[in-house]
Amino acid sequence: MDIKYNLKSASERRTEPFMPEGDVGFGKLRTDHMFLMDYRDGQWCDPRIVPYGPFEMAPGAMSLHYGQSIFEGAKAFMHEDGEIYTFRLNKNAERMNRSADIVCIPNIDEAMQVKAINALIDVDRLWFPQQEGACLYIRPFIFATEDRLSVSPSQQYTFCVMLSPSGAYYASGVNNGIRLLISTQFHRAVSGGTGASKAAGNYAASLRAGKAAVEYGASQVLYLDSTNTQIEEAGAMNHFHILKDGTLIIPTFTDTILKSITSQSIMELGEMLGCEVRQETVMLDQFIADIESGEIIEAGGFGTAAVVSPVSSYIFEDGRVITVGDGKVGPNIQRIYKLFTELQKGHVAAPQGWVNRVERVAP
Ligand code: PLP
Ligand code: COI
Repeated sequence: MDIKYNLKSASERRTEPFMPEGDVGFGKLRTDHMFLMDYRDGQWCDPRIVPYGPFEMAPGAMSLHYGQSIFEGAKAFMHEDGEIYTFRLNKNAERMNRSADIVCIPNIDEAMQVKAINALIDVDRLWFPQQEGACLYIRPFIFATEDRLSVSPSQQYTFCVMLSPSGAYYASGVNNGIRLLISTQFHRAVSGGTGASKAAGNYAASLRAGKAAVEYGASQVLYLDSTNTQIEEAGAMNHFHILKDGTLIIPTFTDTILKSITSQSIMELGEMLGCEVRQETVMLDQFIADIESGEIIEAGGFGTAAVVSPVSSYIFEDGRVITVGDGKVGPNIQRIYKLFTELQKGHVAAPQGWVNRVERVAP
């Protein structure tokens, strides 16, 4: 499908590279345009790039009532040649369709999703933030637009891609660890539910837990399974820990854990990573005992926004605090963070197909 361009006039859009003065933050800024495509009469149609702005939507649009809405998160980086390169967009497109299946949204051809993102970045390439550590955060999402109040899959949808020049998700970055609240009260997902998807409702459901986390001085909740015995993941990142022999462990993906593209990438790096990586069921009691005995020396989270975020301590709802190692960011996490970000920035050769240049195709 050919993409139509309805762009802002030259005087309304950015004409110089974006040189932010202060920290760009995460997800606050927008670029000049967005990509849109609609689903009606049983097919996706009318792919177009238009000025970024409000949608016109019926108050009865089904996504507003029943939450039939999903999203993705990806990033693009500028390499030394001054060109912009996306990171593993095909994996995001694949996962978008997995999420779509889980909440009964019609799939979008993966190549079309990738083409849409590339075309939008190309148009707004001057928005790439020229700031150390910054990137273009890519937010594709799909929401139901049919004006109908019965609880059944919508017959109409919009697929939108927007871009946000962004920096670190956690202000502490990789230099300081965060604290996670281990909650037995809040749960993110149950088996048979939507936990393995990026359904918007999963994030609405995490807000109350997130508020509680802040009250405990924590950044996020580390969710347990519904029996409160196994470690699952955090609200916006997979969890991992590192044993004293250097082995990195990620909880086994189940239908209550989002299959993180960052985690998968770390696992696929193999020898480049310099340590063994494996997935296993992580029992909470053993995890805590292993931190206390020194068997576990580092822990953290993996995610597109979070990148590799070290966790320095955990707090329980009874106020008990468990510090990982000496509470400082350990050498393994520093090494993994460096390797991963160097791959994304093109300083180290990434495996075939992981980073792809955004071609100049805009009219
Ligand atoms: N888990 C959850 C619940 C998330 O929202 C995210 C973010 O996308 C992740 C894990 C990390 O996934 P990825 O590495 O694909 O961004
Ligand atoms: C991402 O890491 O891209 C995410 O989607 C997490 C988001 C909830 C901030």
